[in-house]
Amino acid sequence: MHTTFAQDRQATYRGAMARFTTGVTIITTRTPDGPAGMTASAVASVSLDPLMLLICVGNDLASRDAISEAGAFAVSVLANGQERTALRFASRCDDKFAGVDFRSDHGLPVVDGAVAHFACTVHEEVAGGDHTIFIGEVVSCAYDAESDPLVYFGGRFNSLCDPESHARMAFEWQLAASL
Ligand SMILES: Cc1cc2nc3c(=O)[nH]c(=O)nc-3n(C[C@H](O)[C@H](O)[C@H](O)COP(=O)(O)O)c2cc1C
Repeated sequence: MHTTFAQDRQATYRGAMARFTTGVTIITTRTPDGPAGMTASAVASVSLDPLMLLICVGNDLASRDAISEAGAFAVSVLANGQERTALRFASRCDDKFAGVDFRSDHGLPVVDGAVAHFACTVHEEVAGGDHTIFIGEVVSCAYDAESDPLVYFGGRFNSLCDPESHARMAFEWQLAASL
């Protein structure tokens, strides 16, 4: 039984928005005490000229102030299989970076094995209700065209279904079984 908008506006909004399939990213920044980061799915492209993207960060999060103070952030787009990293950075533990491999781009931590990453300087901070919209100017980005992304849908992690690779695997399996 689903709630209706009239019964519970926030629950219905959350449920409806959870049907908007997204990727999963790790937003990172630097602080005087070391790197900081969080998991985020509220990420969108804004502009091609100049290159800009946006992220939405809860006002009550430590990451909000860290990004604002640094004036810079990186977005790492997670690959299929990086669910543990997503869960770690969605928690409030203070050693989020322990055991996770990172490299640096423009002095910002970038997750190893990500399908893409963007390094940004903060162009503008816009109030968005209980979140802050950071519009970032992209100073660097890169991607791996071969790897598959981690997908978020209905409050769960998923992966892309590639029908061609499924068909190929089924064919190879049948061939091997018939030999
Ligand atoms: C898949 C997923 C996506 C998320 N997306 C966002 C987001 O876009 N914006 C946000 O503010 N929090 C988002 N969160 C929640 C934050 O990751 C979480 O509040 C985290 O504790 C923030 O880190 P901090 O407390 O160290 O700042 C998301 C969590 C998950 C699991």
